[in-house]
Amino acid sequence: MRTKYCNHISITDINTTVILCGWVNRVRNFGNFIFVDLRDCSGIIQIFFHSKNSSVFKKAMQLKNEFCIQIVGVVQSRSKKNENKKLNTGLLEIVAKKLKIFNVSKKLPIDFNNIYEDVIKLKYRYLDLRCLNMLQKFKIRHEITYYIHQYMHKNNFLNIETPILTKSTPSGAKDYLIESRLHKKKYYALSQSPQLFKQLLMIAGFDRYYQIVKCFRDEDLRSDRQPEFTQVDFEVSFVNEIKIMEITEKLITEIWKNFLNISLKKFSVLSFSESIKKYGSDKPDLRNPMELIDLPHSFFKYFNYNNIQNYDIKIRTTTLLIKNGIIKLKDHNIQSYNHIIQKNNDILYIYIYIQDISLKKYKIINIKNLLNAKTINEIVHRTNAKNGDIILIISGEYNTINKLCNILREKIGYDTNLIQKIWKPTWIIDFPMFKKNKDGSFSAIHHPFTAPKNCNITDLKNNPSSVLSNSYDLVMNGYEIGGGSVRIHDVLMQKTIFEILNLTYSSNMDALNFFINALEYGTPPHAGIALGLDRIIMLLTNSTNIKDVIAFPKTNTATCLMSNAPNKFIY
Ligand code: AMO
Repeated sequence: MRTKYCNHISITDINTTVILCGWVNRVRNFGNFIFVDLRDCSGIIQIFFHSKNSSVFKKAMQLKNEFCIQIVGVVQSRSKKNENKKLNTGLLEIVAKKLKIFNVSKKLPIDFNNIYEDVIKLKYRYLDLRCLNMLQKFKIRHEITYYIHQYMHKNNFLNIETPILTKSTPSGAKDYLIESRLHKKKYYALSQSPQLFKQLLMIAGFDRYYQIVKCFRDEDLRSDRQPEFTQVDFEVSFVNEIKIMEITEKLITEIWKNFLNISLKKFSVLSFSESIKKYGSDKPDLRNPMELIDLPHSFFKYFNYNNIQNYDIKIRTTTLLIKNGIIKLKDHNIQSYNHIIQKNNDILYIYIYIQDISLKKYKIINIKNLLNAKTINEIVHRTNAKNGDIILIISGEYNTINKLCNILREKIGYDTNLIQKIWKPTWIIDFPMFKKNKDGSFSAIHHPFTAPKNCNITDLKNNPSSVLSNSYDLVMNGYEIGGGSVRIHDVLMQKTIFEILNLTYSSNMDALNFFINALEYGTPPHAGIALGLDRIIMLLTNSTNIKDVIAFPKTNTATCLMSNAPNKFIY
């Protein structure tokens, strides 16, 4: 049907006849001649219709945006005044000889040049995707996926597919369930990740497994989370964490070099506790140099945290130093920080504006008489604040303060232009093995198959709260783009962890019984990781929402606005 793509036409084609297919991007009718921008998946070229009385001209008069057409025409140079430097093909045009209208189109409910609400864009996703900018993101996604396949192949990994219809096993998110037709009242769970299968492949002796795989999780969504997403998942036998981190780091570095021409430096490594201490988060955006500096709670001993102190809850009192904040920030910036803080109960916050240190001139905002002169001097000294800086002191329940500081750090970073256009990857290691729940029970921070670090079964049983895991998360500019761990290969250790987590494994009916059985057949030491492909593509295409890099994404409430899924079962 066609001999060329629009964007592939060059000056070497001048005076040749070409056949092109695509959509009408724009029509300009000047009476005696008509210009049509023809768009296909490669780009745009101008079609020129003249000879008012010709049949092709008369047909062209019917053309409207998004009609799907075929053009037979001759390539020529544009006249000087008609050249368009913004288009790749802007020096050329096609003089139309024949026009075939494959299909007409209704007026589009969206316009590629304007920003439309998500609701409209997702309802007409196939039209939103017609925009060449969107197509470009998917071309990049394709190239990167292809590159990863090659990288894994070169490194002797086997691409093995694992089941999507699996058994529900305990994990962080809820499962999507599929009813079994043959086994009444029984369900398959859609795979949340191939975790157990890849470990079973190591027990099978496959040595190096990888898969670019869809995973399904029913959890609260946000700008970097979708209910179905893609992982680059891999696992290796007879290695420790260093090898997995090395393979991952090399892959990410090569991708950044190939697709952005950026040479990443060796990735930094931060322990979980250091990351929380400095940034209040385990996925810190290290482009932002602001670090939290803690203060003793004794500075505020007279402050009434209302409910908090009665319940013996852990409190964090910390500061964010806003360099040159007096000049860089406006009142409305400060109000927006207050607004963020005030969404939480029982938070103490005070701003100290450093007007002149030598004259001890400070302006205190919010709660004035809580700080005496000695305490103010001590805070200024500890934070190393200078004239023109603002110190934001913030105190309250430990986890709430960490979440708040992470949000404020990011917002202040943008408001004061601290966030540069650079890449700052970092490994976060030494996570605690367990989180203690309010009812005294424990949950796994990573997953229940993660090995503890330097710890035997007795230590583990005696003091689970203090045990660290041999796991590693990869964080890039504030996004967690991967997570993995060394696995437990000793069946007694695995049983102990299940017991601490209150997971049953002994009877045939128990969800994890099959896995415990498998571990008893000469399991090799093994370790692995899964990278979030969608998040990586998001970063590489400079997108701010994961939906932009998934062809048919779900809304934040996990619905498909185009097809109206989920729906009642009607067949
Ligand atoms: P984890 O749960 O940390 O580990 O997932 C690995 C990576 O997958 C990405 N990711 C997501 N991306 C988009 N939407 C989501 N809902 C979503 N959830 C996770 C993140 C994350 O770092 N089996 C283990 C890996 C292992 O231990 O080898 C696992 O799935 O980038």
